[in-house]
Amino acid sequence: MPEFKKKPSTGKTVLGIDVGGSTTKIVGFDGNKNLIQPQIVKATDPVTSVYGAFGKFTVENGIGLGDIERVMMTGVGSAFLNSPIYNLPCEPVSEFDSIGIGGLYLSKLDEAIVVSMGTGTAITYAKKEGDCIKTEYLGGTGVGGGTITGLAKKLVDIDSVRHLAKLSEGGDLSKIDLRVGDITNTGSFKKLNADLTASNFGKASDMASRSDIALGIINMVAETVAMMAIFASRQYKTKDIVLTGNLTAIDPIRGVFENLSPVFGVNFLFPENSQFGTVIGAALQ
Ligand SMILES: Nc1ncnc2c1ncn2[C@@H]1O[C@H](COP(=O)(O)OP(=O)(O)OP(=O)(O)O)[C@@H](O)[C@H]1O
Ligand SMILES: [Mg+2]
Repeated sequence: MPEFKKKPSTGKTVLGIDVGGSTTKIVGFDGNKNLIQPQIVKATDPVTSVYGAFGKFTVENGIGLGDIERVMMTGVGSAFLNSPIYNLPCEPVSEFDSIGIGGLYLSKLDEAIVVSMGTGTAITYAKKEGDCIKTEYLGGTGVGGGTITGLAKKLVDIDSVRHLAKLSEGGDLSKIDLRVGDITNTGSFKKLNADLTASNFGKASDMASRSDIALGIINMVAETVAMMAIFASRQYKTKDIVLTGNLTAIDPIRGVFENLSPVFGVNFLFPENSQFGTVIGAALQ
């Protein structure tokens, strides 16, 4: 597990800031390479959220401007910042590299598929080679946290993903999803697990409750991301898949991955601080 320190001890601090589609995260490594507990603010506009995150983080950790060596910036929103923060040395770094580097750091693995489950989903392959980490961006999908938020708003009139997760607790997927077992029990499909989804929302019943729909939304997004990651892992012949991004903090999302893991023979890993994988990867560059 990474070690946390409230205050930087010696040397200069390197900050990472990740301006994502929904939230801005900030983290620091002090002069002894100790990780300072990351923080998160909701992204309103990029400039406001960067300065808000920067102010909160530096005040709470007792870091003065003179203590900062440099600021590594990443994320879709970082391009909107066209001047350095308080004249500090600021460097843009690749979000995809950051995802891979952060995923390996948190999981302590030497090789893995690293998935960022944020507003959208990005998938990278990362491998340690000597002192370097080689990363490759494999693609992604627009199905992600933004999909959950949007569908939750329209289908069950809920804004918060946490409330949606709570609502999903009593949900019954058999009222929403068509399962393999619903449509076949013989022949060449016998090999398939009868509980696997044949069609998300393919059996949405008139009697489906709000809880069933909430669980159906969460399940559809998590299954989509999980299957894409599984295909990527087969291509790279690794079984280790590290999940990062804010969706990793949602219990029913983790539950979907945990159920699929034995079926497809992969290891889905949710390391501590997985929400902050990308920003940690940025600060490490
Ligand atoms: N506390 C939270 N604040 C905002 N979104 C949250 C929170 N908890 C869970 N979520 C979900 O996580 C998603 C955002 O995840 P995250 O903050 O990792 O994305 P991002 O980095 O802003 O986006 P991207 O990486 O795609 O640019 C939201 O769409 C929402 O579904
Ligand atoms: Mg992100």
